[in-house]
Amino acid sequence: MDKRQRPGAGLTRRHFLYGGAVLGGGLLAAPALAQQLCRPTTGDILGPYYRFGAPFLAQLAGPEEAGERLVVSGTVLSADCRTPIANALIEVWQANGAGLYDTQTPGNYTDKGRFHLRGMLYTDAQGRYRIETVMPGRYPVPPNLPGLEQYGGITRPAHIHFRVMEALHVPVTLQLYFAGDPHIAEDPWASQHPDNVIALGADGQGRRGTFDIVLARGF
Ligand SMILES: [Fe+2]
Repeated sequence: MDKRQRPGAGLTRRHFLYGGAVLGGGLLAAPALAQQLCRPTTGDILGPYYRFGAPFLAQLAGPEEAGERLVVSGTVLSADCRTPIANALIEVWQANGAGLYDTQTPGNYTDKGRFHLRGMLYTDAQGRYRIETVMPGRYPVPPNLPGLEQYGGITRPAHIHFRVMEALHVPVTLQLYFAGDPHIAEDPWASQHPDNVIALGADGQGRRGTFDIVLARGF
């Protein structure tokens, strides 16, 4: 069973495969094959709603925030898919449950207004991170965005944006998606990044997901 399909699984498919465990009912015995399947997390567009300078916090959404509670946690790993990266800087930003960002002015990356549903955090000594938030809402691609005109009006699947960097590794910008979203297949970004789609579990507090991020070495 693919671990991405199992709610609450502790490892991403990428990490799981490197561990030489069972793949499709057969034992993945060849280290060379395992190495081949271990690869850096693929990058995605920054998107028009990134803003520089979000506050340091891991609880993006307070208890008053409308929407289903969501916790995403994971480990940032080096290119071998098993060495944790401590003190990696993670920026996260997302739309609210209604699909609205705290700015609706696309491309104003240095907007100094109040930050909402955005934050920065560092991974701990074991490379781990954890964010508390709400499920992001879907929203349409704004019309007439330079270079994205052909996608204007299509509904983006729910997603959370990440930027991850560390001194000795190559930074990655990506979007995290959620399995079962009917808009993934038509989305020109989500459909190209199946490894960045995670299954969500649920407990009495809300939804839970695990997403490990692998950074390429910078030298
Ligand atoms: Fe977005």
